Amino acid sequence: MSALLELIEEARSAFAGAATPAQLEDAKARFLGKSGRVTELMKGLAALPVEEKKSRGAEINQAKQQIESLLSGRRTQLAEAELEAQLKAEALDVTLPGRARGPGGLHPVTRTIERIEAIFASMGFDVADGPEIESDWMNFTALNNPANHPARSMQDTFYVDLKDADGMPYCLRTHTSPMQVRYARAHAAQHAGAEDMPEIRVIAPGRTYRVDSDATHSPMFHQCEGLWIGEAVSFRDLKSVFTEFCKRFFETDQLELRFRPSYFPFTEPSAEIDIAFADGPLKGRWLEVAGSGQVHPTVVRNFGLDPEKYIGFAFGMGPDRLTMLRYGVNDLRQFFEGDLRFLAQFN
Ligand code: DAH
Repeated sequence: MSALLELIEEARSAFAGAATPAQLEDAKARFLGKSGRVTELMKGLAALPVEEKKSRGAEINQAKQQIESLLSGRRTQLAEAELEAQLKAEALDVTLPGRARGPGGLHPVTRTIERIEAIFASMGFDVADGPEIESDWMNFTALNNPANHPARSMQDTFYVDLKDADGMPYCLRTHTSPMQVRYARAHAAQHAGAEDMPEIRVIAPGRTYRVDSDATHSPMFHQCEGLWIGEAVSFRDLKSVFTEFCKRFFETDQLELRFRPSYFPFTEPSAEIDIAFADGPLKGRWLEVAGSGQVHPTVVRNFGLDPEKYIGFAFGMGPDRLTMLRYGVNDLRQFFEGDLRFLAQFN
């Protein structure tokens, strides 16, 4: 076999032996590169006499073309093999069943708030909603809790870097009680000048915030405010409404309610409301479920109403705690960690 034919055969087996495009490029360099075998042969032509140069040159060129076509054939083969491997690796099994997202559900605290709303609405209470970022006046001062009052230390909160009209920083509301002021002022303004103002009967559930965090306190929690103002509303009314609420909320008649004297700046007298079940797992223990009291005359005045004419009561309860009692949960934080294994149990 001539040397050129041998060279072609060597190239063929080198190309065939290349398993990857990179190896093939290496092999190509050995034959067709700057100092490859074919190039070296071309260089050797210079030393030949003119006549021989022509014929020898033509032979080498032919061999070069053959090597080039072997190279491109092998390139195509490797590219096809690569594509096939990739297709295999990325194969989609369209017969695989999809991953369903499953139906969503309500958060247990949302369920509680909806139950509270439905029960109070059936007793003639309106449901109101208000801002979580509150002015200092609404959150404290209007509720008879002025700047520097020691009762402010019961409710440390988060402040916003923005001052209100009184030059005080806005805060995240520490309770839903400012909704008493907002709702009553709007109600009073709406009926200003009228002979008879309809009674104010409202609840206001929502998020509240304090610098507090342990198994029974979360920096974000929920409250539901209640307010009932008229010309002859008394503690007796509060007791009957709240007892009725508890019985319907816990779905039992077997419970008792007591007022335990307490202190809040916005009520006088003030009481904690405790309940005790006559049976069930919590039988016999007094459980605190709300703060309450007769609305303080200063607060009634801040409603824009005459405290000589209007009287009533207010209460504030914790839907988070009601949810814990109803479902027997003992760590409040679980409600707010977003773990679906926990939350899905309530649906
Ligand atoms: N705002 C009170 C608190 O967060 C709860 C409360 C007590 C609300 C008595 C009331 C009330 O409306 O009359 O501790």
